[in-house]
Amino acid sequence: MIELAFSILAADFAHLADEIGRATAGGGTIVHVDVMDGHFVPNITFGPPVVKAIRPVTTLPLDCHLMIENPDEFIPAFAEAGADMVSVQVEACRHLNRTLQLIRDHGMLPGVVINPATPVEMLSEVLSMVHHVLVMSVNPGFGGQKFLPRSIERIAHLRRLRHELGLNYRIEVDGGIAHDTVASVVEAGADMLVAGSAIFQPGKTEENARDFLRVARAAS
Ligand code: DX5
Ligand code: ZN
Repeated sequence: MIELAFSILAADFAHLADEIGRATAGGGTIVHVDVMDGHFVPNITFGPPVVKAIRPVTTLPLDCHLMIENPDEFIPAFAEAGADMVSVQVEACRHLNRTLQLIRDHGMLPGVVINPATPVEMLSEVLSMVHHVLVMSVNPGFGGQKFLPRSIERIAHLRRLRHELGLNYRIEVDGGIAHDTVASVVEAGADMLVAGSAIFQPGKTEENARDFLRVARAAS
């Protein structure tokens, strides 16, 4: 099932509840929350208090993408705040198996995220443990960057591995996904589509979400 995970990083933070409402009205079904710590990535965003604040304004799953060092320390706080899915960067985890198990033990769906320069093979030992693999199609840290075309082959690789290994993880893609790039990632096998700047736009959010999903579904 093709889903739009709208990234609230591109939303108007002063009106988050309304922004989530508009993206949902346009067909978005996952709220993507980009958590940055100023260490793993050169930017700071928000953490568990914001997750807790938006929890009561939507029934959609909250998909927390942790771009932080030492994610283990914060997993209980995200669970407490009401996160449904938590994904951690393979590059930030010294004991990735333990971290993914910790996410599951806290009742959330674990995901693993892979940066553009990290070989897909780095994930082979954990693919059976994850609910989703998030392929970064930009270097993480900022919204509004340009899609890196090599991501297409990386998504296709993960789809082949899923088939060969008899697994059922979902493939999420994040960064530079817009009306002109979404068809290629869907054709390669992505079905959780993160988009921020392509969706949130004053007066046009609902329409952007609807158009985005129309293009994505036509390619599936
Ligand atoms: C980048 C974040 C993305 C970002 C995507 O580090 O992980 O989720 O919000 O933004 P766009 O869709 O504008 O590339
Ligand atoms: Zn993200």
